[in-house]
Amino acid sequence: MVLTTALTRYLKRPELFLDLANDLGSSSADLRKRFPVLNPSTGELLAEVPDMSADDARLAIERAHAAQEAWAGLTARARSNVLWNWHRLILEHSDDLGAILTAEMGKPLAEAKSEISHAAAYVQWYAEEANRIYGETISAPSNDRRMLVIKQPIGVVGAITPWNFPASMVARKISPALAAGCTMILKPAEQTPLVAGAMFALAKLAGFPDGVINLLYASVGDTVGRELCTNPKVRKISFTGSTEVGRLLMRQCSDQIKRMSFELGGNAPFIVFDDADVGAAVDGAIQAKFRNAGQTCVSANRIYVQSQVYAEFAEKFTERARTLKVGDGFDPDVTIGPLIDRDALRKIEAHVEDALHKGARIQCGGRRVGTSGTFFEPTVITDVFSTMRMAQEETFGPLAPIIRFEDPDHVVREANDTIYGLAAYFYASNLKRVWRVAEALEYGMVGINTGRMSSEAAPFGGIKQSGIGREGSRHGIEDYLEMKYLCMGGL
Ligand code: SIN
Repeated sequence: MVLTTALTRYLKRPELFLDLANDLGSSSADLRKRFPVLNPSTGELLAEVPDMSADDARLAIERAHAAQEAWAGLTARARSNVLWNWHRLILEHSDDLGAILTAEMGKPLAEAKSEISHAAAYVQWYAEEANRIYGETISAPSNDRRMLVIKQPIGVVGAITPWNFPASMVARKISPALAAGCTMILKPAEQTPLVAGAMFALAKLAGFPDGVINLLYASVGDTVGRELCTNPKVRKISFTGSTEVGRLLMRQCSDQIKRMSFELGGNAPFIVFDDADVGAAVDGAIQAKFRNAGQTCVSANRIYVQSQVYAEFAEKFTERARTLKVGDGFDPDVTIGPLIDRDALRKIEAHVEDALHKGARIQCGGRRVGTSGTFFEPTVITDVFSTMRMAQEETFGPLAPIIRFEDPDHVVREANDTIYGLAAYFYASNLKRVWRVAEALEYGMVGINTGRMSSEAAPFGGIKQSGIGREGSRHGIEDYLEMKYLCMGGL
């Protein structure tokens, strides 16, 4: 308990955080340069953390590079054992980690603790998967040859994680990389560096050797991000965040043809067909829309409801949305925390204004809550058309636009009419329809009669401009492995 218990003290005494940075091997950082971490519910200063530079990034890369060979040279079982230690420590400290997460990100404490369990589940999954990296033998076209494929770690990986899931994304990137035998430099989002720091502190206790994982705090992603993308010692970049930043990183990686795994933006459709169980669809839509205050890449962004069940769905969904409670995530009754910042508030307001101007109607919500935090009411809007901004752009907030449709084929075309392809959801009972629609939706993930599908056992990721690669499942580790073909001749 020692380290994270101490970390909760850091929330009260920001200067202690600098010791943690030292402890994590970032002693090169100029500790006089710092940036503040604020609680989005109260605006209170939680901590100040070192603001690292491109030079610090270079040093971290050197450390990771120096540690790479020895880490990759361990047996899979030895790497797995350290991951198991980390898993145990995360679970033992889940109360502290959850509290740190709620303080810096705002989500309700119950959701924060569930995210910590999810983070631990990724570590567990890859502690197991470390032992299951297989190659293959191929029947050679001539008898004097043998052909084989072996898998080897890619090498040093640079990872950049987002603020909306600041613990599970750290685990989702570090665990498969380390299981595969890669070393890593990780830059957490500037809004939420504290829970990442706490997880690194536990990783150190778990026994990861020096240099195997390295933490970079930076208030401006561009400085250290550019170094990660352009330094030839970094062999791969793993990024979760917006499509816009993904494009920039891709350009920066292009000179060295660097391997990339990107989980980017979405514009998830949620379709309710007339043969759906409407009550179940309402439950699923509440979860897919309002979890994390709508701030997930897989949040339902456009809810399409077939006309026969439109009125019933809209009424029941609005009734449920009205019961959600907005406020500080430490209040046990709260189900919707704050938005991450004021820009997020302005975006949601702009989407509401645009829709109202074009004829949509508010069923509930539609306004900020209070004046000090960044709270917004859970909002349901009907009479929405696909041409409105809220249906075209990812809102990333607790705003649910409901769109009526008549023709099932047309709605699938409309659902696919976007540059994004991360997640889609639909509710239906007719088996033929279920298969047809599941296959026709151009998305990396499709939730069928469920509003939540994220799991360490499943391949999470998108197509089109929503990303490249998969995280989680047995496929997630492949993103950190190179395939090498061996051809033995003269036999
Ligand atoms: C996200 O990446 O935004 C969603 C993650 C999750 O659903 O766990």
